[in-house]
Amino acid sequence: MYTKEAEINLARLGKSLLAGTSPQSPAEAADALRQVIRYSDWRYYIQDDPVLSDQEYDQLFSALKKLEAAHIELVTPDSPTQRVAQGLTKLFPTVQHLVPMLSLENSYDADDLIDWDRKAREQTGLTDIEYCIEPKFDGASISLIYENDLLSRGATRGDGVQGDEITVNIRQIRSIPLSANFSSFGIQQIELRGEVLINKKTFKKLNDQRATENLPPLANPRNAASGSLRIVDPNEVAKRGLEAFLYNMSYHTMQDDKAEPAAIQTHSNTLDMLWNLGFRSPAKEMKVVKGIQAVIDYCLQFEAKRDDLPYEIDGMVIKVNDYALQDKMGMTTHHPRWAIAYKFKARQATSKLRNVEFQVGRTGSITPVAKIDPVPIGGVVVGSISLFNEDVIREKDLRIGDTVLVERAGDVIPYIVKSMPDLRDGKEKDIVFPTVCPVCHDPLFKPEGESVWRCVNINCEAQVVERMIHFVSKDAMDIRSLGESNVRKFYTLGLLKDVPGIYTLDFNAIGQLEGFGPKSVTNLQSAIEASRGQLLHRLIFGLGIRYVGETTAKTLANAVDHLLDLAQFSEEQLLALEDIGPKVAGSVKQFFSNADNLHMLERLEALGLNLRSNRGGLSAEGTLSGQTFLFTGTLNKLKRSDAEAMVEQHGGKLLSGVSSKLNYLVVGEDAGSKLEKAKKINTIRILTEDEFINMVS
Ligand code: IVH
Repeated sequence: MYTKEAEINLARLGKSLLAGTSPQSPAEAADALRQVIRYSDWRYYIQDDPVLSDQEYDQLFSALKKLEAAHIELVTPDSPTQRVAQGLTKLFPTVQHLVPMLSLENSYDADDLIDWDRKAREQTGLTDIEYCIEPKFDGASISLIYENDLLSRGATRGDGVQGDEITVNIRQIRSIPLSANFSSFGIQQIELRGEVLINKKTFKKLNDQRATENLPPLANPRNAASGSLRIVDPNEVAKRGLEAFLYNMSYHTMQDDKAEPAAIQTHSNTLDMLWNLGFRSPAKEMKVVKGIQAVIDYCLQFEAKRDDLPYEIDGMVIKVNDYALQDKMGMTTHHPRWAIAYKFKARQATSKLRNVEFQVGRTGSITPVAKIDPVPIGGVVVGSISLFNEDVIREKDLRIGDTVLVERAGDVIPYIVKSMPDLRDGKEKDIVFPTVCPVCHDPLFKPEGESVWRCVNINCEAQVVERMIHFVSKDAMDIRSLGESNVRKFYTLGLLKDVPGIYTLDFNAIGQLEGFGPKSVTNLQSAIEASRGQLLHRLIFGLGIRYVGETTAKTLANAVDHLLDLAQFSEEQLLALEDIGPKVAGSVKQFFSNADNLHMLERLEALGLNLRSNRGGLSAEGTLSGQTFLFTGTLNKLKRSDAEAMVEQHGGKLLSGVSSKLNYLVVGEDAGSKLEKAKKINTIRILTEDEFINMVS
């Protein structure tokens, strides 16, 4: 995409624009700003290796906006400012694809692939076929049209013949260029196919946020991506952090006088061409091989690292590489004969829904939990599945006794995809939602416009216990040896009444209990002891303030020197913090206006808990700025998530894989292939955990 020289020049240009020594005329300045912003987008969204800080980027972006506002004639359709949309999309009109978007034939094992290869060889008369193998992205399929180098239309797959026109939303996806130099290949019009994804990290963030709002989680990244493409407010779409891989050229026309260049005579060359034009194509993930055995090997190799990828894939796609051969093989009405999907092991299973239990959460929310006949899915036995709220039960028309389809994708919690009404025998029973709290028996309430029933008795035993369970949980104070069952046990025995009580536990009494030998008491004692020094954001998250998830907890921790400073924050000050809206601000304000809560925090501090923020911390923010990190193996002293948070806090960036863009690989115990790979790249520095700790402190 960019030569070394071009990159150096753009970096220089960026510096001079930031310093205000910009080119002479407004037209030159606008052009320079656009070039630098595009280059920065490419480094950030495609290369995963930013060149500008957020602040620098914002400075250039607003300079361009200002300039274009003052000189409207300078606005170009592919200016980065033109991604921003105004108003809501009223309608996504139906449009016809230039070429029908066919599906793929599926294969599930080596034998299926061997069979398919045999047919392909028979058809082509070749003894060995060249294949291109690439990941099968598990997202929402899209089609893009570029005409005279400009993105002119984006559409969903729809029924394959017609889809919804979603161009405004597609323009929000920053890894999709608004213009690309197809004319340098003689291409006049081109239709591309690809997949829109939400990566696993972003997906988790979205769901954490939804959890704090008592919304049912988005089922999986695929549904989240396809739902996001149809959001009517493009600014909301922009916030979803969508990414796109472009993996197929389905149609193109050449400029009158141009012959097809070599770059578009094979599929792998097309992927390279797209990569070089600034698209995210699977050019780095693809492999071109001869013969089916090499295909099988690569598929198995990729399947083994499926969980390490930052996004979900559900298989591999094998394509005949040569376009002339593809044409010869043709297609059925359903799929091309020149391609096949190799599907990874299913993460779905069917089971019987035996019962629904109703659990009371720490905020009083009543959650129905399905009890199913335990089934193994993707290596884990699933027996309990949250159904979130009454609406989910009604929408999925679930009944006790139903056969249900259960999915557990990657890191995603298991969920019921659907019931199977065809398999009913008439003995199924309706699920009856309780009207009183199953624990304290107070009547339940459902606030207007919400779908969650609540027990509003804050002294309800279930809520008190759940608040403590949340406080000690892994992402909060992480007091593992206390855990859910011990919290329940100690509460029932009267040894533990509330959160501060964790720090005044009577270990002599615990030592008398069955199952608590001296070793487990010492372990418990030291885990509780260690938690006093947890980072402030963990404590804030552990308090279980409504709508405050892990991300908001970090924002709040970074906004103060001491937790009790938050008691002085006005709602306006809270609203000024990143990603804090009125609902969150109101809830935080309410928590810190409550005398009982403040008293509890004072008690916690008196008990030796850390209420100070480490924002000015051990080393100044930004000391790792511009540096990239990756962790591998098991760390002994730090938790992986804390170590990663430290990198980000100090301005560093995390990468998901080993590449020449990586500066530091931090190696814990039992490090595997990442370490081997890093050793081969001599610009990567390999650090032990201690060396990393020294570096940040
Ligand atoms: S090629 C005409 N390549 O999988 C061939 N499809 O289950 C078009 N998909 O509808 C498809 N990753 O939405 C192709 N690397 C990839 C893909 C891919 C994901 C999707 C695509 C297709 C579906 C079939």
